Parts: sequence; structure tokens; C-alpha cells
Amino acid sequence: MIQAKNIHKFYGDLEVLKGVDVHIKKGEVVSIVGESGAGKSTLLQILGTLDLPSQPQQFQTEILIDGQSFMNMKDKELSKFRNQNIGFVFQFHQLLPEFTALENVLLPTRISGKNEEFLDKAYSLFEDLKIIDRLHHKPNELSGGEAQRVAVARALINSPKIIFADEPTGNLDSKNADDLHQLFFDLRDKYNQTFVIVTHNNKLAEVTDRKLVMKDGLIL
Ligand SMILES: Nc1ncnc2c1ncn2[C@@H]1O[C@H](COP(=O)(O)OP(=O)(O)OP(=O)(O)O)[C@@H](O)[C@H]1O
Ligand SMILES: [Mg+2]
Repeated sequence: MIQAKNIHKFYGDLEVLKGVDVHIKKGEVVSIVGESGAGKSTLLQILGTLDLPSQPQQFQTEILIDGQSFMNMKDKELSKFRNQNIGFVFQFHQLLPEFTALENVLLPTRISGKNEEFLDKAYSLFEDLKIIDRLHHKPNELSGGEAQRVAVARALINSPKIIFADEPTGNLDSKNADDLHQLFFDLRDKYNQTFVIVTHNNKLAEVTDRKLVMKDGLIL
């Protein structure tokens, strides 16, 4: 699902990624752990098409997501590729405050332009995530755990092949965190979706299929 070779990233003189290779199979749940500043979020942003590696020609960088290279895609093509293949969950839910939970979840479907059929999918996600009675609440009327589950529903609405999560439960109590982790595994079992999860949660990291440890810009 992901084949990446020789990812480098510089911020000015600071080399944040020093030639990272990553191979992740379809249906794997992989965790990425490591000290603050190791480069985990930077790597996730690049694998998730939200950022580009530095000097890919020079370093002969390759990144394939489901066999496709996105590094040379133009903006429009890249947005479409991301929208169809990739879901994101961040530490802070990043829901839009002026929209209801349901509207937030349906936002990514506007690009695909097939709103009707997505309504059923949205309802079933709200059921699965146990937030069906919060459909019309706005983010500030939701608890942290509920808002985070809405963000997960938004990440899943387009049935992405791969979900990138950056400390998705960093902000939740341990019960909510455990529930959300379990959900990731359930989704993998049900839909064979692939999960790459940056986490400081050891309990989660230990139960994933594979734990990648990052240190100083490299995977150990
Ligand atoms: N836009 C940026 N400009 C300059 N330096 C940056 C930028 N983004 C990240 N960095 C630096 O790159 C390094 C890696 O950052 P990154 O966010 O990937 O770390 P991380 O492993 O996710 O850490 P954490 O666990 O604290 O989230 C850090 O030293 C950070 O200060
Ligand atoms: Mg980070």
C-alpha cells in the first residue's frame, strides 16, 4: 500500500528526515513512535501527500501509494487523489465550528459530488461510532471524545484505502482512547483498510501489527 524510499526533508539547514524508507502492506495497522522532534509528523504529512520531500531528484526519492506516485501531480489531480485514497485524523479534531457534525462529515464528499449516496454511509458511520444522536450538534456542543469520533467519521466517509492518524487519541481519556483504537482494528478487519498511526500511547503501539521507531530523522 505504501512503498517509500529515501525520503529527506530539510527546514533550512535542519535535516528533519534523513533518508527514510517505509513499506506498509494493505490492511496493516502500523504505529510510529519516537521522541518529540524525531520527525514523525513530518513523515506522516509527506506520506499523506500534504507535504513534499526535499530534493527528490537528487535523493532518488520514491513514494508510491497503492502503486501510484503523487509527487509530480498538479494541485487538482493531487486533491482528487488524496480525496479518493486517503483519510486523516489529527490530534485536535479540526472540525469546522459553523457546521454540524453531519455537515462536517459530508464535507469531503462535495469534491466527489455524489452527496445522496453518502448520506447513508454517514448515518452508518455515526451508528458505528455511537454518535448517531449527535448528528446535528455543532463541534462546541460535543465532548472531546465525540468530536474526535466525528473527525474519524469524516476521515472515513470516502472509504479511503489508507488512514493516517497523528496522535488521534492524544487528547482523549483512556476509555475514549481505547474505544477509538478498537475501532481502527474493527475497520481494518471489516474493510481491510490500512492505518498508519503516530502515537505516544504505548498500549496502542504494542498491539499494532508493527511498531516503527523513529529517532533523529530515521526509522530504526
Ligand atoms: N515548518 C517547520 N519549519 C521548521 N522546522 C520544523 C517545521 N516543522 C517541523 N520542524 C522541526 O522538525 C522537527 C521534526 O518535527 P515533527 O513535527 O516531525 O516532530 P514529531 O516527531 O512529530 O514530534 P512530536 O512528537 O512533538 O509531535 C522538529 O525539530 C521541528 O522543530
Ligand atoms: Mg508530531
